[in-house]
Order: sequence, then structure tokens, then C-alpha cells
Amino acid sequence: MIKKYCLLAALALAGSAVLSAQPSRLDINLKKVGAPVQETMYGIFFEDINFAADGGLYAELVKNRSFEFPQDPLQGWKAFGHVEVREDGPFDRCPHYVRLIDPGHAHKWTGLDNEGFFGIGVKAGETYRFSVWARVPDGGSSDLRIELVNTASMGENQFLCQKELRISGSEWKQYEVILSPDTTLPKSVLRIFLVGDRKTTDLEHISLFPTDTWMGHRNGMRKDLAQALYDLHPGVFRFPGGCIVEGADLATRYNWKNTVGPVENRPINENRWEYTFPHRFYPDYFQSYGLGFFEFFQLSEEIGSEPLPILSCGLACQFQNDDPAAHVPVEELQPYIQDALDLIEFANGPVTSTWGKVRADMGHPAPFNLKFIGIGNEQWDAIYPEHLEPFVKAIRAAYPDIKIVGTSGPDSEGKQFDYLWPEMKRLGADLVDEHFYRPYDWFLAQGARYDNYDRKGPKVFAGEYACHAKGRKYNHFYASLLEAAFMTSLERNADIVHMATYAPLFAHVEGWQWRPDLIWYDNLRSMRTASWHVQQLYGQYKGRNALTLTMDGANVTGAEGQNGLFASAVLDGNKVYVKVINTSEQPQAVEFNFTGLKKKESLKGAGCVKLASDLLYEDNTLDEPDRIAPVKAPFSGEGKTLSATVDPLCFTIFVFER
Ligand code: AHR
Repeated sequence: MIKKYCLLAALALAGSAVLSAQPSRLDINLKKVGAPVQETMYGIFFEDINFAADGGLYAELVKNRSFEFPQDPLQGWKAFGHVEVREDGPFDRCPHYVRLIDPGHAHKWTGLDNEGFFGIGVKAGETYRFSVWARVPDGGSSDLRIELVNTASMGENQFLCQKELRISGSEWKQYEVILSPDTTLPKSVLRIFLVGDRKTTDLEHISLFPTDTWMGHRNGMRKDLAQALYDLHPGVFRFPGGCIVEGADLATRYNWKNTVGPVENRPINENRWEYTFPHRFYPDYFQSYGLGFFEFFQLSEEIGSEPLPILSCGLACQFQNDDPAAHVPVEELQPYIQDALDLIEFANGPVTSTWGKVRADMGHPAPFNLKFIGIGNEQWDAIYPEHLEPFVKAIRAAYPDIKIVGTSGPDSEGKQFDYLWPEMKRLGADLVDEHFYRPYDWFLAQGARYDNYDRKGPKVFAGEYACHAKGRKYNHFYASLLEAAFMTSLERNADIVHMATYAPLFAHVEGWQWRPDLIWYDNLRSMRTASWHVQQLYGQYKGRNALTLTMDGANVTGAEGQNGLFASAVLDGNKVYVKVINTSEQPQAVEFNFTGLKKKESLKGAGCVKLASDLLYEDNTLDEPDRIAPVKAPFSGEGKTLSATVDPLCFTIFVFER
């Protein structure tokens, strides 16, 4: 491991070394414009892991809002006075609700507290929409008091705000009231109790959202987190995972049909990550499906990316199921295949079609223009191609233009990988999803990964990847630097690599199962990691066409003799972006030598952007979210050959103008 003091000593020595060393000459050929960099190239992988949906991106603040958590309908709630749970409510797939009954004494009270997700985070000056389905079963009217409470307060009053809400009549209706807390508090409690005549009152689907959500949607997303996605310039948005697609068993696989239609009637699902790691249990981790497939498509559209849904191929998570009986036999796959066909209709079908109408009824009559679909997540062995084949046949027959994504399993190389790639080619998959959560040395050795891939086979979707330190997996700058280095291989091979998504995306600081992740947050704050900045820079400087960039005739892949340099170049109209990652501890002199220019033509240096940090083994934090961030720096000069010094352990993007 590189220690900081070694690094500083090396830097001191290297200061003079760079002046005397021969510059590395990077030849960039402008005559031979390479393959287009696909719009989908750099994107987002979303999975509801680490409380990424409920408690994260999905802005709902109430946990177990429909009283459907299976072990205990009151999980997340604290009932007081006389509360009954009943199950003949107005929503057939979410039948539970609560009945508040007069406690029978003037000095006793009946009501409920909700703890939220690690508390309910609220900000002074912002407004929150409380809503509830309710009725007074015996007719007439009743009054509720709604409060946001600081249960730890030493003040006279515990509440941050308080409103009353009148419920009228014996029919179920939705009511709402706006709450305006006077204090910012990351962990408040929602309190609801009977006041006035204390008439028996039924409550269902109790919800609290900030009014200021991303794009102002009522069933909306947390604004800071959605903005962090938008700012990445993502070209593709993969959802809903990940292993969650498969489920620990088929019964709990991700079933997209349960995630559309009115939110009140979306059945709850067990989260695949609830019990995955015995050292990090989250027994209250369920999927409300409030963030469902409609919301995924809508968000995809709003952040400017192509949607890429991944569906179950009828195999439960193979890591968790050795017994073949855990999976659907091939001859019984039809309902799963139908789910895939129906999803395409949901996304693209006319409003007169069954599923197109569901989309239209949800507020989006225009098609979502779905182009890609993934079948299966990390599957392996012959059972996977056997399952995939009937999907491919059915999708090709009904929707020949939809591109199908298959998988090469959970490993970046090895037996399954070598078996599955030819199988995907045989079945005619358009793209193959590769996953690699790998250590430093793997990333340092993979700069040429795609240089010799079969150009006649399916395209590559690097669908899950991140650099992990050995032993302790955590976010830190050095890992992000190696990700940047590796990504030059994606860019150089833009003819074959069409998509790449870092994973996982989100993590709540109090609810994570997996590290590292791209974006961290608590109830009120969020932080973009160094890896986020790497992704963002690649997204922003994506360019339109790959260019050939070589050193002594070879691609610059961190190979022996290349001084720890990785590099790639793209053309963007009259601009050229050259990405150089110096993984060494020495500054390096480089010469950018442009070939293929007309005699009088030259290029101008137009600045550069650097991502570096002497906090090699640290990252941004919620308290200091900007300590690692790109900085713009001067870079000028004019000619066919321009010189620069690349800082040690630095990701630099040089911008040239023609
Ligand atoms: O990203 C976390 C998990 O890693 C994904 O769910 C799975 O596909 C992979 O094993």
C-alpha cells in the first residue's frame, strides 16, 4: 500500500526527475476518426441495496406506511392508547389498516408514532405533505392532530409543527395537510392522535413527502439525490438491479407488475438485502415499490438516459440457491416471458393496449421509447442459456428492434465467463453484461481489457464494477483513480463497449450492506464520492468519436515501460479531450503529438481538469463533501505538438481546440 509519507518523499524527489526525464510522447491520430462513443456509454446502475429506494432516493418519509410489513403490521410504528390493526381495507393488495378508538378516559390518548427510516429528516423552512386515507366508520366526523416531534427535546414542547385534520364520513377518502417544521432535525418522529370527540377513525396509507421533490412529483424522489444522478450526464439507467431482480427466492424476485398503478395498492416485497449478510442484518428492510417501474422510466427520461430494465429469467439468485427446484423449469417459463413482453408494451405500447393504458393512466400517454431489455442478472451454468433462449425467441418475434442484454455471470474472467460469452453469441444477445468488483492489481492490469475482444460478437455492457481494496472495502480516492485508468479501455474500445455502469449507486450511512458506493447520504445530507467525480468527468467529456492514441505505437494501458500511464482520446466537434491517468507517484512529462493534420493546421490547448488528492485512502464525507473534487487548471500552447506535465496520482483531462 502506498503510504502518504512515501508519496510525499517521492514527490519531492520526482520534482527534479521530471525535468530531466524524456517526455512520454502520446501520438493522437486526427485523420482516422474512430467509432462513435455511444450515447449510452456511461450510465447508472440502480439497485435497492443500502436503503437506496425507501429511505433513500424515494422521498417517502414514513416507514411501513400501509401496515403491510409481514412479521408485524406495526413495525416502524409505536401505537398508544387503543389501536387495532384490521385487514379489510380499501386496497386489495395492501389490505391492512389501523383503527384508532377512544381510549376511554379523558386523560388518555390514542394514536401512533412513526420512526421513519433511521428517523424522519426535516428542514426548517421547507414544507411536507402529510396524507392519509381515512374514514369514520360510524359516520360523522373526527379530528386528528398531526405533529412532527423531537422526542429528545428538553424544551417545553416536543413538536416542531402541529396541524389538525378533520375526517368526515364513513367512505374511504384521501386527506392531506401541509406541515411546516420550525426546526431542522435529522431524526424527528411523525405523531398522529385522536383529539376532539375522539370518534373511532380508520387510517390507511399514511404518507409524508417533502413538497419539494425532484421535478415536483407528488410520489417523488429526493431532490439532492436525483440531482446527483442528473449531474452525471448518464447515458443509460439500469434498474432495478442487481441480485434484487432474482430474489433470494422466486417468490420475492422483483416483479415489475406489482410496482405500477396507484401506490396505495402496490404490494410490499421482502428486500433481497434484508438478511444477506449476517454481520449486517436489516430486519425492517422491505420494498414498498413506491419507486416502481413507472417512476424508473420517468426518472430515466428526466435525467436524459436510456432506460435499461433487467428482468428475472426464472432463476432465483444462484448464490443463494443450489437446489435446481428453486428455479422455474424451462417449460414453465411462459409467465416470465409474458412479463417481459408486457413490459415492452407498458413502455412503448399505444394507449389503447392493455399495458400502454396502465402507463397512460399513470400520467404518461407518450411512449417511453424503450430500446433495451436485460434478461437475468448474474446467472451461470447451462441453466442460464437454456432459460434465456425462449425469451430471445419471443422478444425477437414480437419486438425485433429491442436490443437484448444477456450476462457473462458474476466473474470478470474464468470458467463461467469463458463459457457464457460464446453462449451469448450463439443466442444472438446484442450486449453482454460483465461484472467486476476487483482489487487494485486487477484494475492496474486491465488497461487493455477490450483491445482484443471479438469484434463480430455482442457488444459489451460493463454493467457492475468498482475497484475494491483488499480486506476492507470502502470508498477512497486511490480506488477511483484506478477506475479512471481502467475506463480508458472502455473509451478506446467504444466500437465494442457500448455501456458501463459503476455499482452500487447509493448508500444510506446507517443502512448499508455493501461498500464502496457512488453516493452516500443521511436523512438530510448527501455526498458525491471521488468515484462519482470520475464517472461525472467521463460523462461530461464523453466526446463523440474515439481517436487512436499510442505511445511508441502501443495503446497506453499502464503496460510495462509506460510509466504507470493510462490514456485515451475522443473527438467532440472541434474539440479533442485527452484523458491521462498517471498512476505513478512521479510527475510525468508528456508530449501530445497530433498527426493527420493538414500542413497549416494546429491545435490549441484550452485548459485541463484535474482530479487528485493527497487523501489517497480517504474520500469525501457528509461533513466535508467537497474535499475531493475536480479543479480546472490552465493548459495552453499551440501547434502540432504540445507539452504538459501530468501530476502524480492524478486523473487529468486535457482539452484541445482545433
Ligand atoms: O451491486 C451489488 C451486487 O453485486 C449486485 O446485486 C449483484 O449483481 C452483484 O453481485
